[in-house]
Amino acid sequence: GGLWHYTRDLPRPCLSRSDPSETDTREDFRYMTGTIRKAVLPVGGLGTRFLPATKAIPKEMLPVVDKPLIQYGVEEARKAGIEEIIFVTSRGKAAIEDHFDHHFELMATLEARGKSKELELASAMEATAGKISFTRQPQALGLGHAVWCARNLVGREPFAVILPDDLVLHPEGCLAQLVAAYNEVGGNLVAVEDVPREQTMKYGILDVVQDPEGEKGGRLVRAKGLVEKPKPQEAPSTLSIIGRYILQPEVFDELDRQDKGAGGEIQLTDAMARTIKNQPFHGLRFQGRRFDCGSKAGFLEANIAYALEREDLRDTARDIIKRYGDKS
Ligand code: G1P
Repeated sequence: GGLWHYTRDLPRPCLSRSDPSETDTREDFRYMTGTIRKAVLPVGGLGTRFLPATKAIPKEMLPVVDKPLIQYGVEEARKAGIEEIIFVTSRGKAAIEDHFDHHFELMATLEARGKSKELELASAMEATAGKISFTRQPQALGLGHAVWCARNLVGREPFAVILPDDLVLHPEGCLAQLVAAYNEVGGNLVAVEDVPREQTMKYGILDVVQDPEGEKGGRLVRAKGLVEKPKPQEAPSTLSIIGRYILQPEVFDELDRQDKGAGGEIQLTDAMARTIKNQPFHGLRFQGRRFDCGSKAGFLEANIAYALEREDLRDTARDIIKRYGDKS
C-alpha cells in the first residue's frame, strides 16, 4: 500500500491535563511519554521569494528533481511514525490537496496501459481517508498564527510541525531523529544547526543553558530562551531553529494571546519561549544536510544534491556538473 496504509497499534497519548484517566502520580512523567501522531504542515505562504514560479502554483509543489517539496515533508513525517497530516493552507493551494488525493482517471489509464511503475509513483502518496486534513489560514499573520489555526485538529496532545521549505537529506529524515530524542527528554524540541553569525536575523535563535554536553559533541542542547530573528550583535548564540518541531499542546495557550513579534507577525518562536518556564525545551543538532528551499540558491543546491543521491541520475548529474564546473 501507499504512504498511509499504516496499521501499527499506537498507544493513546497521555499528556493531556484534561485526560481523566491521568492521575497526579503521573505528573512527573508528563513530558516523558506520549506518541507523536499528528504533524502540522503550514503551507499558507505566498511564496514571494520564488516569483515568478509561484504566481499560480503553490511553492510547495515545486519539484526537487521529480517530487514536489511537500511530498518530501509528508514522507519524512511518515518515516517518523506520524499517522495524521494537517495542512494549514490558504487561497490557491488546491494543487496540494489534489496531490494527495486519488486520481481515478490517471490510475485507470496507467492500469489499462500496464504502466505499473508509474502507477506506483502516482499512488504512493495517496492519503487514507480521514488521515489528512486541510484547514485555512485566512490571513498571513505569521507562522505562530498558522500553527494556531490547527489547534482544534491537533487537540490536547503533543504534535510535530514540519516546514516543508526546509529540506533535510538523511536516510531516516530529521523528524524521526527528533521523535527519538523526544522519547528521551520529552517537552518541547526543535531541530537546530549552527549558522554564520551574520545570518541570525533569518532564524529563531536559542539562548542555551551552559552546555558541557554540547561542547563534547552532544547532540541535545537545553535552551533557557529563544529569540526570533535577532541582529547578529544581539543574538544569544548562533544555534538556529530549522523547520522541525515537537511541541506540547500548551503552546496553543500561548498562541491564543495573538501577540505580535518580529516583523509584526505572530511568531511561533515567541510562544515557544513563553513555555520554557514550565516545560523543558531542547534543540537537537540533527544529522543530515539541510537545504533552504525557500531561497533560489538553496533550491538549486537541493536539486543537485538529490539528483546525486539517485542511482538512476547520479552519473548524468555528475557529467553535467563536471561540464559546467569546467566552464567557470
Ligand atoms: C521560520 C521561523 C524561524 C525558523 C525558520 C526555519 O522563519 O519563524 O524561527 O528559524 O522558519 O526555517 P521563516 O523562514 O518562515 O521566516
